[in-house]
Amino acid sequence: MNKRFYITTAIDYVNGQPHLGHAYEKVVADVIARVHRGLGEEVFFLTGLDEHGQKVQQAAHAEGKSAQVYCDELALQWREFVRQLGISNDDFVRTTEPRHKAVVQAMLTKLHAQGDLYKGEYRGWYSPRQEAFLTDRDRLPDGSWDPILGEVFELVEENWYFRMSRYQGWLIEHFEANPAFVVPEYRRNEVLGFLKSEKLKDLSITRPLARLNWGIPLPFDPEYVTYVWFDALSNYYSVPAALGDPGAVEPLAGYYRGGAWPESTPGIWPADVHLLGKDIVKFHAVYWPIMLQATGIPLPRQVLAHGWWQKDGQKMSKSTGNVVDPLAVAREWGLDAFRFYVVRELDIGADGNWTDAGFQARYQAELANGLGNLVNRSLSMLQRYRGGRVPAPSAELSIEVGQATVRCLDHLRAHRLQAALLEIWAIVSRANQYVDQTAPFRLAKEPAHAQRLDQVLYNLAECCRILGVLLSPFLPETAGKIQRQLGLEPAPVRLMDSTWGGLAEGHRIGEPTPLFPRREPGRTG
Ligand code: MSP
Repeated sequence: MNKRFYITTAIDYVNGQPHLGHAYEKVVADVIARVHRGLGEEVFFLTGLDEHGQKVQQAAHAEGKSAQVYCDELALQWREFVRQLGISNDDFVRTTEPRHKAVVQAMLTKLHAQGDLYKGEYRGWYSPRQEAFLTDRDRLPDGSWDPILGEVFELVEENWYFRMSRYQGWLIEHFEANPAFVVPEYRRNEVLGFLKSEKLKDLSITRPLARLNWGIPLPFDPEYVTYVWFDALSNYYSVPAALGDPGAVEPLAGYYRGGAWPESTPGIWPADVHLLGKDIVKFHAVYWPIMLQATGIPLPRQVLAHGWWQKDGQKMSKSTGNVVDPLAVAREWGLDAFRFYVVRELDIGADGNWTDAGFQARYQAELANGLGNLVNRSLSMLQRYRGGRVPAPSAELSIEVGQATVRCLDHLRAHRLQAALLEIWAIVSRANQYVDQTAPFRLAKEPAHAQRLDQVLYNLAECCRILGVLLSPFLPETAGKIQRQLGLEPAPVRLMDSTWGGLAEGHRIGEPTPLFPRREPGRTG
C-alpha cells in the first residue's frame, strides 16, 4: 500500500509562550509539507502539545486551576498561534487526549510483557523545578548548583526502568547503515560519537504517583505515572495508530486496537521526517529509536535538527523583553514576509540571529524591490501595452529559467529550502535585469518594435507564472495573489507546472496590485 509523506514537529510545552523558535520550526515543517503536496504526494503533517509533567501541575496549582482546565485554556492559544501562522497541519495532538494515552499504555504493556522493563532504585540529586535527575558532574565549578535548577535535594526513589543499554550496539549499527538518519551530518556525528564513547544508562520511565500525578498512569503498576519524555515522544506514533493506520496498529496487535482505516487510504507510519531543535536531538536520535525498536515498530527515516534563534545576539527572554512576536511581525508586514525571512535567513541546522534591521533589509530588497517590483511592472506593462492579453509564446528566457527551476526542484526534494529560495531569486534577478536590458517602455513607443515587445512581455509574464508555482510552498498567500493577478484559476499548485510555456496566447490576465508595499523602516513588530 502507498504511504503518505509523514512529517512532524516537536510538540511544544503547553506552559511555554509561543515565540519565534516555535514559529520557525512550524514554518519549516509547513514548507516541507507543501513541497511534498506540490510534488503530488499525499502528506500527513502533525504538530501539537506536550502537556504532562510536574511544571504544568505546579503552574496549574499556582493559578488555582485543575491541570486539565489549565491545559485546555493554553491549548486554545497554541492552536490559534498555529492557525495564524498559516500552518497546513493535518492533525494537532495533545498528549492529554485519550487517543494518545491508550497507545502509550499499549506500548508500555508490550515492553513490560517482553521483559524490557524492571523496577530499580534511584539514589541521587534531583531538581523538582527542572524535573531532572542530576549527578555531581552537573555542579558548577565552585560545587554549587546552577540557580535555574531551583532547590536541589537528594532523592531515593523506586522507579521502572527501560533496558535501553541493551540496544546500544544495535543503534550504532543503525546509524552506520543509515547515514541520513540524523541530519545535518555534524549532528549525526555528535550523537554517534556519544554512542561510541559512553555507555548508555537504562532510562527511568516512571515517576511515583505520590510525587507527580499529572501523567499517563502506568498500566501495570497503579503507583506510577509515565515519564514525560516517554509520553511525549510517543505522540508521533500514537496519532497514526489511533487513526487506525495498519502499519502503526500491527506492531501493537494484542495490546491495542486502532480506529477503522479506509481500505484505499495510504498509510502514515513510519515518519519520513521528525523536525526538531538541536537541544532535543538526543531524545529523538537515541531514546526514540530504541523505544521503537524494542516495541517492534519500524523506525522513522530521518531526524532533521534545526538551529536556534537569538534576537540581537542574545538569548530571547520574556523577562528582559528581548523577544520577537511572530504574529505581531506578520500583522505588521504580512505573514509571507515573516515566513520568507526565517527560511531565507537560515539553512536548516544553523543558528540564527534576528535583527529588525536585517528583516527590513530583506523585505525591501528581496520582496518589495525584487519580487514585488518584477511582478508589478511585468503585469502592468502587459495591461497597458496589450490590454492584458498574453502575446504569442516566446522562449527567450526558457533555458536559463528552466535550469534554475531544475536546480530549485532538486533542492526542494532534498529539503534544502534556503538553496531553493536562492534559485528562485536568481530567476527574479534575471527577469528584472531583462526588463532593464530590453526596456519594454521604450519598445512600446515604436510601432516597428511591436513583435519584440510581444516577446519581452511573454517572457516576463511566464517568469511571473513560474515564480508563482515555485514560491507556493514558501509564500502560499503571495503565490495565490500572483496566480490571481495572472488570471489563473486558484487550483492547488503542482510544482511540475513550473516548466516553461504554461501561458497560452490570448489568455487574459487580471489586475496587477503591489505584492509587498514599500515601507518606511521602523520597529518590526
Ligand atoms: N516538549 C518538548 C519537545 C517534545 S517532542 C516529543 C520541547 N518543547 S519546547 O516547547 O521547549 O520546544 C519545542 C521546539 O521549539 C523544540 O524543537 C525546540 O528546539 C524549539 N525551540 C525552542 N526555542 C527555540 C529557539 N530559540 N530557536 C529555534 N527553535 C527553538 O522541547
